[in-house]
Amino acid sequence: MSNRPQLPAGLPEPTWSDDTYGIALYRADCMDVLEQISGGAIGAIVTDPPYGINYKPTFPNHQKFDAMAGDNGLLDLRPILNWPCPVISWGANCYPEQLPCRGRWICWDKRHPSGVSDNALGSPFELAWENNKTPGPHKMIRIMHGAYLNDDGHGIKRVHPTQKPIRLMEFCIGIPPGTTLPILDPFMGSGTTGVAAVRQGRAFVGIELDSGYFAAAVTRIRQAIIDAQNGELFATHTPHTQLDMIPNPTTPNKKGDGEV
Ligand SMILES: C[S@@+](CC[C@H](N)C(=O)[O-])C[C@H]1O[C@@H](n2cnc3c(N)ncnc32)[C@H](O)[C@@H]1O
Repeated sequence: MSNRPQLPAGLPEPTWSDDTYGIALYRADCMDVLEQISGGAIGAIVTDPPYGINYKPTFPNHQKFDAMAGDNGLLDLRPILNWPCPVISWGANCYPEQLPCRGRWICWDKRHPSGVSDNALGSPFELAWENNKTPGPHKMIRIMHGAYLNDDGHGIKRVHPTQKPIRLMEFCIGIPPGTTLPILDPFMGSGTTGVAAVRQGRAFVGIELDSGYFAAAVTRIRQAIIDAQNGELFATHTPHTQLDMIPNPTTPNKKGDGEV
């Protein structure tokens, strides 16, 4: 199909790819791969780097995961944060000294209606920084954190300790102005940004250092492609309304209709 997402010429040889859906994945240190990608080859960066906080999940329902690569000290993220395209980077409140310009913030309100998960999850919200190449004001989105149900937001068990909801990454991918160039996630973990890119019909370049998480990302993105081919992007998954549109903990919505 002519309107399928396409990768630009000149990318380094990927570890895994799908040419019909414009996907190139690298099992590598992102800094090594980024050195080989020209600035103009990327439409937008949507990423979730290690925050340098030595994260150890404490939520009772959480699986046991090994320590995350790069999380025991702050990485130098400036080559990514200064990339000449729209950039959205989660956890940026943990590395404010590296942010190159004022930009704006996205607040992910991840509270559970009961409030029970706030302490275990460390915070009732998370912040992403947007550079000044993305349009619009500060933004806020409410999606219940999947760790509470050990769920990726679509009825499938989580495979990464800091796995983001697919819908959160779809929201981020939708912020930068339209371009046919790929979305880049240099710290793709279990590939959530790639799954969101497939669902949004966007080409995607993903990089992950850890071979186990890289394999998980390939599995999830391959499944997203199969779902897209079968026209089942939404049909096989838990309806968003069950997890996303949750009532405010301080002002319960008795109708349960998801108004925030
Ligand atoms: C916060 S997690 C991303 C989780 C992801 N958003 C998800 O939904 O699964 C950051 C990931 O970056 C990876 N990582 C750390 N240092 C890296 C590096 N230098 N190059 C590529 N990946 C790296 C870690 O292994 C980890 O999986």
